[in-house]
Amino acid sequence: MELGRRAAPAKLNLALDILGPRPDGYHEMRMVMQTVSLCEWVSLQEEGEGFSLETEGGFCLPPGKKTMEQQAAESFFQAVGRPMPGLAVRLEKRIPAYAGLGGGSADVAALLRLMREAYAPGMPLPELERIGGLTGSDVPFCVRGGACLAEGRGEVLTDLPPLPPCWIVVCKPDFGVPTPELFARVDGIGFRDRPDTGGMIRALEAGDLAAVASRLRNVFEEVLPPSCGEVFRIKERLLVLGAMNAAMSGSGPAVFGIFQSRDTAAEAAEALKARYAQTFLAEPAGRL
Ligand code: C5P
Repeated sequence: MELGRRAAPAKLNLALDILGPRPDGYHEMRMVMQTVSLCEWVSLQEEGEGFSLETEGGFCLPPGKKTMEQQAAESFFQAVGRPMPGLAVRLEKRIPAYAGLGGGSADVAALLRLMREAYAPGMPLPELERIGGLTGSDVPFCVRGGACLAEGRGEVLTDLPPLPPCWIVVCKPDFGVPTPELFARVDGIGFRDRPDTGGMIRALEAGDLAAVASRLRNVFEEVLPPSCGEVFRIKERLLVLGAMNAAMSGSGPAVFGIFQSRDTAAEAAEALKARYAQTFLAEPAGRL
């Protein structure tokens, strides 16, 4: 039985600050997150027995590990107190994986929304976000979407006004940065250039795109290994190509630039595509 197909949009971190390590092994975060129009698709079918996950788009699943999708499905049916039926999930991957764009978390969030519609339509959204948080720290935000201040592990969300209308060029160089490795490099160092998160929130409240752009900041950029120098070269290229400002998203290595004009952004995306195949033109997107 076909249960539907849902968009799974990427997220960007307009500001990313790490306040310090926590006793549970995670880090205390303070992030301003925004959903964007770059998205992939998740479909769900009830069929057969057990859980299966199929992808197209040349994406390889980590071998031998229970996928985030299966973990989320198990948590969901445990929370609703009924056995999991046979489920087949299909991913149409478009968002570069392991890029800091929340692609995996977005897929899980879309799957959770599909399961809620099919099996627990009365479930409040905060409960769905809580279930998502059992699978990954960015999943609660991806369930909610729009613009949020994300604190705690990333699961304590406060709604914010969205990024004012603009154009965004997202560019991913051809290497990945494992998130846990980057977090491990954070401990014990003092960041030089922390985001002005309060200023970013006020800029969003004022709908002031220039003030938002001037406050893009991500402390992970300070702990990138030397092999990731391409990140800074892409940031520079984006500025030369007319971006108001640019920053890395999440634990990278995807970089994004904010543009006022669609034409300038489209030209910048074309120019970057010559060297970086995974370059996309996007816009801010609202709550899901
Ligand atoms: O929550 P998630 O599974 O996405 O996190 C992946 C890894 O990133 C964690 O195992 C941890 O090493 C690190 N992490 C962290 N602090 C956070 C989120 C993630 O240290 N707030």
